[in-house]
Amino acid sequence: MPLPDSFLQELTQRNPIESLISGYVQVKRRGRNLVGLCPFHGEKTPSFTVYPENNSFYCFGCGAGGDVITFIKRIENLDYRDAVKFLADRAGMKMPENDVDDTMSRLRTRVLEANREAARFFHASLYSPAGIEALDYFHRRGYTDSTIRRFGLGYATDDFNSLRDALRKKGFKDEELTLAFLCARSRRNNSLYDIFRNRVMIPIIDIRGNVIAFGGRVLDDSKPKYINTSDTPAFKKTQNLFALNVAKASAGQQLILCEGYMDVIALHQAGFSNAVAALGTSFTADHARLVARYAKEAILIFDADTAGQKGTQRAIGLLRETGVDIRVVTIPDGKDPDEFIRKNGADRFRVLLERSANDVEYRLIRAGQKYDLSQAGDKVNFLREASEILSELQSPVERDVYAGKLSAQMDVRKDAILQQIQRFAAQKRRQQEKKQLGNLVQKAEGLTAQANPEAKTYPRAAAAEEALLGMLMLHPDRIRRVRETLPPEKIVTAFNRGVYSWLLERDAAGLSVDLIHMAESYSDSEMGYLSRMLRDAQERRESPEELANYERVILQEQQMMHAVDPTELTPEQIQAALKALRDSKK
Ligand code: CTP
Ligand code: MN
Repeated sequence: MPLPDSFLQELTQRNPIESLISGYVQVKRRGRNLVGLCPFHGEKTPSFTVYPENNSFYCFGCGAGGDVITFIKRIENLDYRDAVKFLADRAGMKMPENDVDDTMSRLRTRVLEANREAARFFHASLYSPAGIEALDYFHRRGYTDSTIRRFGLGYATDDFNSLRDALRKKGFKDEELTLAFLCARSRRNNSLYDIFRNRVMIPIIDIRGNVIAFGGRVLDDSKPKYINTSDTPAFKKTQNLFALNVAKASAGQQLILCEGYMDVIALHQAGFSNAVAALGTSFTADHARLVARYAKEAILIFDADTAGQKGTQRAIGLLRETGVDIRVVTIPDGKDPDEFIRKNGADRFRVLLERSANDVEYRLIRAGQKYDLSQAGDKVNFLREASEILSELQSPVERDVYAGKLSAQMDVRKDAILQQIQRFAAQKRRQQEKKQLGNLVQKAEGLTAQANPEAKTYPRAAAAEEALLGMLMLHPDRIRRVRETLPPEKIVTAFNRGVYSWLLERDAAGLSVDLIHMAESYSDSEMGYLSRMLRDAQERRESPEELANYERVILQEQQMMHAVDPTELTPEQIQAALKALRDSKK
């Protein structure tokens, strides 16, 4: 059941796109529009644009675009129904009476409900006689009962059915339990059993307070050390950070990023309640964007082992893309934060934090360790590598400071170092510009290809159709001008034909053709394609007379499609056809 038009209309009015988006993205006014850094891809110069005029957004860096619903779908990682509900709640509106939850949304809700019950059950088990050992495990690790309560920690007992039976009693269906990754079916006799057994349980809670997943750790050294919820209808590993629900409130400008659940919990208990961790997967670009949304500075604490150091390098790269400042903490003796705090206390840890190097210092130190600096050849190579690292600094003052340090340390002239830095910087800039341009073109093409694959085969027709549709979406009053002369079947590419028919039908019925009414039937990338048409039309500001030109091109292309196969044309015929085309363009 599609939602009533009047409801969607009110939803748009009560959620003006500027105010909605400015809750997520810092935007600045530019003319009629607002621009900012795109939350959907990493970038340093803003290409994300909000168009208050028609309640749409479009990023010409990555092609994301659409209406308010599409925005919320993507940024909050919700499906269509939940995004609508989110916006309705935000505006204090009730969902329409006859609204029946669609399946995906209902399943998601059920999975979240099952998780919440499971978390309660695990927590209660921890404090039951069966949980004595587990509780002792937490206490031995130094976690207080108040920490255990705050994180809702729990214990999954050592049997195959207790959670299953408890949740069945609460009315959960077997499929809901398997979808939630709480239970699985035995391959032998198809019976349902608990996935988490004899493990201490760490619930993962999202920023809205939903229990979305669990990590379960063994109490000894057996393997696997952790079992983690894999992706479910309510959870995607790469899009969540452990403890962000707590950390975001106290983050201020900083987030501490570490490797493990246990580290995060120990840090919070020691007063560093801005600590978070990735969830059992390595740090991803999604994580970096999430960090950038909540903090200006990220402090990285990864283990000193090789895997940890690789993780640090990787995270630095990804975070740099988003423009957040980065600092790196190295813990002496290769301990992890949890261990360090237990042995040395919170105050010593705070000293470590304050002394932590920014990422450039960190990388210089790592680079230095690779070389024997008493050897002339190594010295040259080290200076090269160091200059390359410093060339990433944008600020001349900072470059100067580090060049000075290096010059004193290595006994080399400072301006020689600065010169080398500059060469690397220029080289990098050229590479980057080239790459960016390539990326832009590729992304825009990729977007079109995804939404409208035929555009590649009929580029001229598709371009005219896009311009025509954009203009009609922007000026629905012009729809009647083409209605009689351009029937839908003349539109060459199928996707655009669908959109065009939709516009005609809606207009004939006297209904609005705002983007928000398309959000239910079109995918995110299709919405991006549509909002690009709208944006281009807005930029061109063409008069209605242009419609006739687009119409003519489309009709021509339609005819060409049915003409003889071009590979079978004689050279004379090709010349004639090209001439006809040129003439018609004039
Ligand atoms: N991890 C995982 N599966 C494993 C090992 C690790 O998912 N088999 C993830 C977990 O998110 C874990 C993080 O990687 O928190 C860091 O691993 P590790 O340092 O081994 O675990 P800790 O949580 O620090 O546990 P402990 O201090 O008890 O060793
Ligand atoms: Mn640890």
